[in-house]
Amino acid sequence: MLVEKNVPLQACNTLHIVAKAHFLVRVASDADVQAVVASPEWGIKPKLALGGGSNMVFTGDIKPVVLKVEIMGRRLVQETSKAFVVEAGAGENWHDFVTWTLQQGFDGLENMALIPGTVGAAPVQNIGAYGLELQDRFESLDAVDLQTGKLFTLHAAQCAFGYRDSVFKHAAPTPSVQSDSTTQGLGLAGRALITRVRFSLPKPWKPVLGYADLERKRVETNTEQPTALQIYQWVCDIRRAKLPDPAVIGNAGSFFKNPTVTQEQCADIIARDPKIVHYHLSNGSVKLAAGWLIDACGWKGKSVGNAGVYEKQALVLVNRGGATGGEVMTLARAIQTSVYERFGIMLEPEPVVV
Ligand code: EPU
Repeated sequence: MLVEKNVPLQACNTLHIVAKAHFLVRVASDADVQAVVASPEWGIKPKLALGGGSNMVFTGDIKPVVLKVEIMGRRLVQETSKAFVVEAGAGENWHDFVTWTLQQGFDGLENMALIPGTVGAAPVQNIGAYGLELQDRFESLDAVDLQTGKLFTLHAAQCAFGYRDSVFKHAAPTPSVQSDSTTQGLGLAGRALITRVRFSLPKPWKPVLGYADLERKRVETNTEQPTALQIYQWVCDIRRAKLPDPAVIGNAGSFFKNPTVTQEQCADIIARDPKIVHYHLSNGSVKLAAGWLIDACGWKGKSVGNAGVYEKQALVLVNRGGATGGEVMTLARAIQTSVYERFGIMLEPEPVVV
């Protein structure tokens, strides 16, 4: 087991924040993770699993032992009359995996093309885009218990997926929980390292359209029945047009969740701001576009130090060069305050602050 010391993490987080890991171990297999857990020296220390760092804000050097997940591999596990079950190692790049599935003829992940990050990070925040969420295609995942070293498998219900949320984002109530019960709805933040994820891609494939941006593409190109590959291309085009490429401008995708409010709250806001972008949900509540709220408060293109609000999409905070995690969080708090003062809504950040 090789423990690297004082490892620069700027290239390991998509906001490109300068930070160091005091200790970093690259894990390429279940056994590598188990070796860290079993080590008398490193096993007892707090640990942080790091994938592509696409949903993390580093606010200083990282004291927990960083486990850099480099578990690779992708394969068809099973084909039934109803689905292709496809598996990928947690360290695989998400977009490359989506592209590979389509090349193999396993359609179904196309709406989630170009989301930055790794396969292993995808279930943590139940990634989603253009009308589809990871949970809609999820089959199961394998993980290692970082306290006991035991391997376990979780199915969808055990992951407690919600909007940009899962069991992996919530802390365990006590550190002494038995590993067998980790699978029953307890928080697993810092407790589980995801090693492999399986997806069930339904047969026959049906396009997921309906999202306004995709409908626009369909009408523009006069396409009655798009293929998965066409939707993949449309999603890539839409994302490239309005979201910054992390390889060029540091960012962590949407920085806040879209808030939900009651119909009464929404009616109250509409009375004051008739143009507010909102969507009625099947459960009777109303989802508001956080990007619109931030934009309405005049934040687009503004900066705090070297952290800024992206010019083409107010929901995305960017590193204009040399931003610290502190600057990003100061900007985020200033945005929260102004949105709260104007609309009475407290925006909730999407990334994990470390
Ligand atoms: N809007 C504005 N001004 C802005 C930004 C947005 O008025 O500066 C308006 C848009 O015109 C649109 C509405 O807000 O009417 C919603 O914008 P958009 O369709 O771009 O989607 P979003 O709500 O901003 C969400 C996800 C994205 C995902 C897109 C597409 C969240 C927090 N974000 O963004 O996910 O790609 O929908 O499905 O749910 C991510 O989570 O990192 C992410 C990028």
